[in-house]
Amino acid sequence: MRARRQPSLTLRSTLAFAVVAMFSVASAGMYLYETMKASVMTRSDHAVLARLDHFRKLLEYDLSLDTLRGSPQLFENMLDSEDDIFIIAEPGRAPVISVNPLQAHLPDMPVVPPGRPLNVNDLRSGSTKGDVPMRAATVAALSNGKTVHLTAAHLAVKEMAELANFRNRILVAVAMAFLVTALLGYLLLRRGLRPLRRMAEHATAITPARLDSRMDSRDTPVELQQLSEAYNAMLDRLADGYGRLNQFSADLAHEIRTPVGSLMGHCQVALRQPRSVDEYQALVASNLEELERISRMVESILFLARADDAQGALNRQPLTLSDELQRVTGYFEGLAEERQMTLNTSGDGVVNADPLLLRRALSNLVANAIRYADECSAIDIRVVQDPVQCRIEVENQGPTLSESAQGKLFDRFYRADASRHQSSDSNGLGLAIVAAIMQLHGGEVSVEQPSKGRIRFALTFKHTGPLLR
Ligand SMILES: Nc1ncnc2c1ncn2[C@@H]1O[C@H](COP(=O)(O)OP(=O)(O)OP(=O)(O)O)[C@@H](O)[C@H]1O
Ligand SMILES: [Mg+2]
Repeated sequence: MRARRQPSLTLRSTLAFAVVAMFSVASAGMYLYETMKASVMTRSDHAVLARLDHFRKLLEYDLSLDTLRGSPQLFENMLDSEDDIFIIAEPGRAPVISVNPLQAHLPDMPVVPPGRPLNVNDLRSGSTKGDVPMRAATVAALSNGKTVHLTAAHLAVKEMAELANFRNRILVAVAMAFLVTALLGYLLLRRGLRPLRRMAEHATAITPARLDSRMDSRDTPVELQQLSEAYNAMLDRLADGYGRLNQFSADLAHEIRTPVGSLMGHCQVALRQPRSVDEYQALVASNLEELERISRMVESILFLARADDAQGALNRQPLTLSDELQRVTGYFEGLAEERQMTLNTSGDGVVNADPLLLRRALSNLVANAIRYADECSAIDIRVVQDPVQCRIEVENQGPTLSESAQGKLFDRFYRADASRHQSSDSNGLGLAIVAAIMQLHGGEVSVEQPSKGRIRFALTFKHTGPLLR
């Protein structure tokens, strides 16, 4: 089933950036808006206070109410804002001057007594029907012995319009921030993620026949460089595994073709003319030998194929190595004697291993030693144990192997001595099996030539957890 298509990384990141940019600009805008509003309101408060102060002094020193009654428009012109309110009245009587163009309703206000200076706390807030904020105050003055009340209010009509204008600009800036960041972010991200698209294209073009092509990670950003290096390394491993698999099947076909060809040849020759019973018996016996070798080979190949994923089936238990060596040497004693060889064992230790597999690995090494060592020589089997690991060494006197031959000993079907290729008892799989068994145990098998003509194979087991004795 096809997974639901997720929104692209570019789109998601672009939107995220754009929203962040939008919020930053909006917060800055709101802060500026509030600061501006506060300063505008303070300014209008001071204008109201200054106006009241001014007219209170005028009334107290120069101006009489009668003069005012004579020319009220004088006042109307003196107000700097046409929406502002200004009222002069004697308490309980009709106002002498009353300017209130918007007919706004004034809030309840205390009257500041004559002689007391005005301050901001004497102002009260209100608003018109159209929700325009207003600040108002009332003071009392003594004019020619009469008490006069002066009321002034400022309606922030202009200020509100100015603030609304400013708010609209902020909204435009927020929208622009979103658009510009989204656009630039999209372009930059698309550019930045180009290596990912190239990688996808590259991966699409990979086939078993084109496993050798690699990504060029030189102009890739650091984060993606890691990915592209890991990807290339994966291709290396795949190509290597695939190559070995190919080689293995080619070798396998080759190895089986030879004995099958020879079996067929023998049978064809035998059938050309009538043969005696003895001849038929000899033929069947030699064919059986060949078939046994093929059967051994098939069994080994099956073992190797299964070993690749047999980790879970490992039956590990603590094994006393002196007992194991005894068992294996006992088994090979007869063969060794035939070639006048002696098997010497020394040392002891305990390893956590699958008994059947350990015996198989050891047997393969000892069988090789008996088969390839010089006649009448001695084979040394040693156990060397230390706190970290345990080594089982099988050392014998035999042919000197070149460096390159040593490197290939553990390959499947490899035989160092070319003349043995045709021999019926050598498949070149014994050491490959040893290597597979050691890998299953998390250990390793190694080969070294301590001196000319001496060859030593070593199985190294790493101790895992406490061993039971
Ligand atoms: N102890 C040894 N001394 C010298 N040469 C060895 C020794 N063990 C292995 N070799 C070389 O390594 C080759 C590979 O050994 P390996 O056990 O894998 O295969 P084989 O013995 O030829 O066949 P098989 O074990 O499958 O019957 C051998 O053909 C031999 O040339
Ligand atoms: Mg062998």
